[in-house]
Amino acid sequence: MDFIAPYTAYIERELLKIDFPLQPAQLYDPIRYFIAIGGKRIRPVLTLLGIELFGKQKQQVIQVALAIELFHNFTLLHDDIMDEAPLRRKMPTVHKKWSVNTAILAGDVLLIKAYELLASQEGDTRRLLKLFNKTAVEVCQGQQMDLDFEQKKTITIDEYQEMIRLKTSVLLASALEMSALLAQADEKQREHVAQFGINIGLAFQVKDDILDLYADPKKFGKQIGGDILANKKTMLHLLAQQTASQQQLLDLEQLGKELDPRIKIAETKKIFDLLAVEQRANEKVNAFFEQAQHEINQLEIPNKNKQPLIQLSHMLLGREV
Ligand code: IPE
Ligand code: IPE
Ligand code: MG
Ligand code: MG
Ligand code: MG
Repeated sequence: MDFIAPYTAYIERELLKIDFPLQPAQLYDPIRYFIAIGGKRIRPVLTLLGIELFGKQKQQVIQVALAIELFHNFTLLHDDIMDEAPLRRKMPTVHKKWSVNTAILAGDVLLIKAYELLASQEGDTRRLLKLFNKTAVEVCQGQQMDLDFEQKKTITIDEYQEMIRLKTSVLLASALEMSALLAQADEKQREHVAQFGINIGLAFQVKDDILDLYADPKKFGKQIGGDILANKKTMLHLLAQQTASQQQLLDLEQLGKELDPRIKIAETKKIFDLLAVEQRANEKVNAFFEQAQHEINQLEIPNKNKQPLIQLSHMLLGREV
C-alpha cells in the first residue's frame, strides 16, 4: 500500500476541504459521515496516476479526481439501498443509520457536487462532461442489469461480464481516461489507457464477488454473504451453475427462496465450496489482470511512467477489503 499512501493522503486532504453546509443537518451529516468513514479511494488515485503517466502533475487533475470519488460515493449510497446492505466500510449504511429518503437525497447532493467539481476543472470541460455523462448513464444501466439478474435463473458469463463492465469497469476506465484527455494524449493511447481501466475493473468486480463471501469478516467492511441473500448472479454463482450436478442445481434454486439468512448463506456456501468456485473465480480475476497488463504494455510511454499503475493493479489483485 505504501507508494499509494501519499496519493490517498492528498485525496483525503482535498475531500475534507469540500465545503458542505451545516443545515439541514439531516442531509449534510450523512454526507460528512460517509466521506469520513473512508474507502480505498482507488478511482481518484487512478486519475492522479493517469496524469503522471503522461508526465504531468497530479495537482492538475485534482478536481476530476474528487468528482469521480464523490460520484462513486453517490453510487454506493444508492447501491446500498438497492442491495439492502446493512454495512459499508465497517460502519452502518446511511439508509440504516438515518433513512432511505436521507440516503437518496445525500446521494443526489453528492452527484450534483461531482458535476460542480468537474465544471471547475481547467481544460476541455465539454469533453470531460461528455465522457462523464456517458459513464454515469452506463453505471445506471449496469446497476439495473444487476437488479434484473436477481430474478433470473440463468445468466451467461457474457451477460454477466457486460453487466459488471457497466456497473463497475467504466468508472475505473473513465477515471484514467479523463486524465489522458486532459494530457491531450492521442486517440490510440487513450484507448489503451481506457482498456487497461476496463480490465482492471472487471478483475476488481470479480474479486469483489469473491470477497463478498470469502473475505475475513474482521477486515472486510461489508456484510458477508450479502450477494447470496440478494440472489445476485455473481461470478461465484455462475461458476457454480456451470459445473453443478442436477441435484446441486435444484438445491441452489431452492436456496434462492430460503428465508432464513444463516441457512441460505451456509448451505449455498457448502455447494460453492464443493465446486471450488473461489479458486475458479480467482482464475478469472487473473485472466482480466493479464489482459490489463497487455493493454498497458501497448502504450508508447517510457516504462518507468507505467510502473505506479502496474503496482496499483497488483495491489488490487491482492486486496482483502
Ligand atoms: C465498491 O467499491 C463498489 C464496487 C464497484 C465493487 P470499492 O471497493 O472501491 O469501495 P470503497 O470506496 O473502497 O469503499
Ligand atoms: C456495486 O456493485 C457497483 C456500484 C456501486 C455501481 P456491488 O453491489 O457488488 O458493490 P458492493 O459490494 O455493495 O460494494
Ligand atoms: Mg452492493
Ligand atoms: Mg449492487
Ligand atoms: Mg459486491
